[in-house]
Amino acid sequence: MAEMLKGKRILVTGAARGLGRSVAEAAAAEGARLVISDILETELAQTAEALRERGAEVEALVIDQADPASIEAGMARIAEGGALDGLVNNAAIATGVGGETMMDYDMALWDRVMAVNVRGTWLMTRAAVPLLEANGGGRVVNLASDTALWGAPRLMAYVASKGAVISMTRSMARELGERRIGVNAVAPGLTHCEATEYVPQERYDYYTQGRALKREQQPDDVDGTILYLLSDWSTFVTGQVIPINGGFVFN
Ligand SMILES: NC(=O)c1ccc[n+]([C@@H]2O[C@H](COP(=O)([O-])OP(=O)(O)OC[C@H]3O[C@@H](n4cnc5c(N)ncnc54)[C@H](O)[C@@H]3O)[C@@H](O)[C@H]2O)c1
Repeated sequence: MAEMLKGKRILVTGAARGLGRSVAEAAAAEGARLVISDILETELAQTAEALRERGAEVEALVIDQADPASIEAGMARIAEGGALDGLVNNAAIATGVGGETMMDYDMALWDRVMAVNVRGTWLMTRAAVPLLEANGGGRVVNLASDTALWGAPRLMAYVASKGAVISMTRSMARELGERRIGVNAVAPGLTHCEATEYVPQERYDYYTQGRALKREQQPDDVDGTILYLLSDWSTFVTGQVIPINGGFVFN
């Protein structure tokens, strides 16, 4: 099969580690030219180097999604390299499983999660739109979470932020359709990676038992659906939310 993303220039945010790094590696293997961003400077440089060693074309930029000025400056640098074909809004604050209930939830944490996961996703997409339009349209994939579909407890800000990502995906799809930009979301289940190392085994077991496909989820379980949504195989798919969770919750 020909490379699915051959020659496409794709920005993956939060790609220093975890699901973002996994999808960046998968996109590179399918011929994409990559731009990767994160706040973790050292890990981002390591990811970029590892991708280059495999022959990928990759540019790495530190962009803090909590900071509108950082987004603006980062996107201006990206624009110097030309247009974009795709954006994967993967960066997020992804912590909190087993934290406080809504009765005791910390307000500062709430504000920070919303600033990065919701406002950051909006501002990154807004800044990318001219670069996608410059190529005649493009594809946006937002990382939601299945926690927003089943209402995971003790994770209030995160769940609310991912619910907002799902709603924004639909609204963005309607607003950006006339610019020939498709916007979709994926909603992964609990996935083994650096960010979830602290999650107790009981929580993994709870997920595994509730899945139609009874096993734990790995980062590369998520890659294929994101690549499809970035590719020319999905050009008439927009505003959709695809759970990727082995059938833990259906949409
Ligand atoms: N791992 C899971 O179980 C799981 C499940 C469902 C959804 N997701 C979603 O997948 C995405 C990736 O999650 P992950 O599990 O790989 O977690 P992660 O924490 O490893 O990845 C998120 C990345 O975003 C970066 N980031 C955080 N704040 C940032 C900021 N202000 N500016 C720029 N970058 C920032 C982090 O440094 C990190 O590299 C997230 O959107 C997460 O919500 C993860």
